[in-house]
Amino acid sequence: MQIWTCVSLPRGSCRMATHCRYHVLVMLLLGCTVLVHYSYDLSYLPSLRLVKEYDGGIQNDTLRTSLLTLAPNTTSPLLSAPAEEVLNPTGPMFQRINQNDAWVYSAFFDTYKNKNLIRVFGMQPHALKNLVFCHLGFKHENYTIEGKRTLLLDNHGYRLRVVSYECELIDDRHPDHVSITWVKTDSPTNSLGVLYPSSLQRNFTVCYAILYNYTNYKQIIQSVEFDRILRAEHFFVYNMSISNTTDALLRHYQKRGLLTVMQWPLPISEIHYHGQVLAINDCVYRNKGVSKYVVIHDTDEFIIPNNHDNWGDLIDQVNKDYDQQKQSPQSHEKIGTYIVESTFFQDRPNASVWSAIKQKYSISDQVERSFENYSLTVFTDLVRLQKVFVGGRQKSIVRPEMVLFPDVHTTITHRPSASDVTVRQSLALVHHQRKYLSSPTDIVEATSLRFKDKMLPLVNETYSMFFT
Ligand SMILES: *[C@@H]1O[C@H](CO)[C@@H](O)[C@H](O)[C@H]1NC(C)=O
Ligand SMILES: *[C@@H]1O[C@H](CO)[C@@H](O)[C@H](O)[C@H]1NC(C)=O
Ligand SMILES: *[C@@H]1O[C@H](CO)[C@@H](O)[C@H](O)[C@H]1NC(C)=O
Ligand SMILES: *[C@@H]1O[C@H](CO)[C@@H](O)[C@H](O)[C@H]1NC(C)=O
Ligand SMILES: *[C@@H]1O[C@H](CO)[C@@H](O)[C@H](O)[C@H]1NC(C)=O
Ligand SMILES: *[C@@H]1O[C@H](CO)[C@@H](O)[C@H](O)[C@H]1NC(C)=O
Ligand SMILES: *[C@@H]1O[C@H](CO)[C@@H](O)[C@H](O)[C@H]1NC(C)=O
Ligand SMILES: *[C@@H]1O[C@H](CO)[C@@H](O)[C@H](O)[C@H]1NC(C)=O
Ligand SMILES: *[C@@H]1O[C@H](CO)[C@@H](O)[C@H](O)[C@H]1NC(C)=O
Ligand SMILES: *[C@@H]1O[C@H](CO)[C@@H](O)[C@H](O)[C@H]1NC(C)=O
Repeated sequence: MQIWTCVSLPRGSCRMATHCRYHVLVMLLLGCTVLVHYSYDLSYLPSLRLVKEYDGGIQNDTLRTSLLTLAPNTTSPLLSAPAEEVLNPTGPMFQRINQNDAWVYSAFFDTYKNKNLIRVFGMQPHALKNLVFCHLGFKHENYTIEGKRTLLLDNHGYRLRVVSYECELIDDRHPDHVSITWVKTDSPTNSLGVLYPSSLQRNFTVCYAILYNYTNYKQIIQSVEFDRILRAEHFFVYNMSISNTTDALLRHYQKRGLLTVMQWPLPISEIHYHGQVLAINDCVYRNKGVSKYVVIHDTDEFIIPNNHDNWGDLIDQVNKDYDQQKQSPQSHEKIGTYIVESTFFQDRPNASVWSAIKQKYSISDQVERSFENYSLTVFTDLVRLQKVFVGGRQKSIVRPEMVLFPDVHTTITHRPSASDVTVRQSLALVHHQRKYLSSPTDIVEATSLRFKDKMLPLVNETYSMFFT
């Protein structure tokens, strides 16, 4: 069961209307100016304390404060994390907009509604509405124009929000650099190299979330190797703070050409989940033109097809079904986001069930020891919640050129005429390998074991290379 709460405030606008589009309760928007969406499940969660999964354009400080204090035990670690000041960033990192409470991270050439523009991603307080100026740098000259801003829908009650500054180009020349200021005549303190789409190199690229205080390197090995079986060709990770072994592992994958590490020395803490919406947008734009599909998930999540051997075959099937449903053979070309529903896999089966599974999937004792040795929870924690989350925990495979602003669970904004499709549960499910609740979980699902024979040699090889 889902609970939706509409909070009506006297000023502002109905920011979350797009979020509500699938739901009957959009009616509640009548007369309301801000909608807060709480996605949680009453049958599992005893009280309103859980406000973990809400999306809202909350403009009201009283309300925001009460939401944050309502959820002290379940929100992201960010709430208690100390602010980290980064003094000497090098490389593509956060750069401050002069002395203002705003930072930029990356810049991309983009074409939107037939206009060429430079899109700069950054973060700023949501209330800031001053003019924005773009200083566009070419080989021999530069010019300054007024830009626009679009706030992304990642407010979640924090002071800072992810923003896209858009600088429309006045002619066909392509700038190398862009800087942002609030005052036209100010000398910029930031300068970002503009990234242009390059030629198609891959079918599937995976964007992971931000690694913060991250020590679980075995989980990264499990995730990377599993995704490689499903045809992932490259991975992006955002490095905020990691253990030494994790660091060594990332370098190992970097050297093999499998992984790009983006540095993420977040200069402020007052942003949702360490700015993960910014990282996701950066990652998807970085892969525009380069990767046909971008798969967005965390290191403890596995997008596993039920019948197909890889993501490519899965998508072909979804496209075929979609065309049939729309009764036109090219309809799928408009799909920008493939949404896969999710649930938690949190326990091991009991001894009798496990021994039946071992028999059915021909798992020898030695193979079982490898599962243990490498912490391959995707093969051992097969007892999942019966419930599948449709209203906020789903994960997406996106086509970068079709989406405007991708998000953690699903794309919030598509480009004109693009659409999304929800992948049927019978075709695929996100296996979220995490303890979520202690309530009884009564479904055993062993789909993942179809992949064990391909997986084990890859994992073995990685451990062998990594630890020698
Ligand atoms: C903020 O929300 C609270 C609770 O809904 C309300 O009492 C208060 O008047 C609101 N404040 C403003 C400035 O809108
Ligand atoms: C949060 O957790 C602490 C310790 O785990 C507990 O003492 C406290 O009562 C909890 N707060 C709420 C609001 O449940
Ligand atoms: C713009 O041009 C001036 C003068 O040529 C130069 O000093 C400055 O660095 C340039 N700025 C950018 C952003 O390219
Ligand atoms: C992408 O997938 C198509 C269809 O399966 C295949 O023909 C092509 O070789 C793949 N491209 C890359 C770069 O893997
Ligand atoms: C990092 O994680 C460890 C254990 O996982 C925890 O004890 C510690 O408080 C965390 N540190 C921060 C800054 O979140
Ligand atoms: C991690 O590596 C750094 C630099 O090599 C070293 O100073 C530090 O002691 C290491 N930490 C641990 C826990 O091994
Ligand atoms: C990850 O970030 C830390 C802290 O900024 C840095 O010391 C380390 O070199 C980075 N590791 C990789 C693989 O980029
Ligand atoms: C083991 O789990 C299965 C299904 O979850 C259940 O039917 C069975 O009674 C359990 N067996 C024991 C010995 O607990
Ligand atoms: C267990 O893992 C270690 C590396 O962590 C490896 O050296 C050892 O051979 C593995 N043993 C088995 C049975 O896979
Ligand atoms: C890899 O597999 C071989 C053969 O099963 C085993 O001898 C070896 O210990 C494994 N290596 C690792 C690092 O697990």
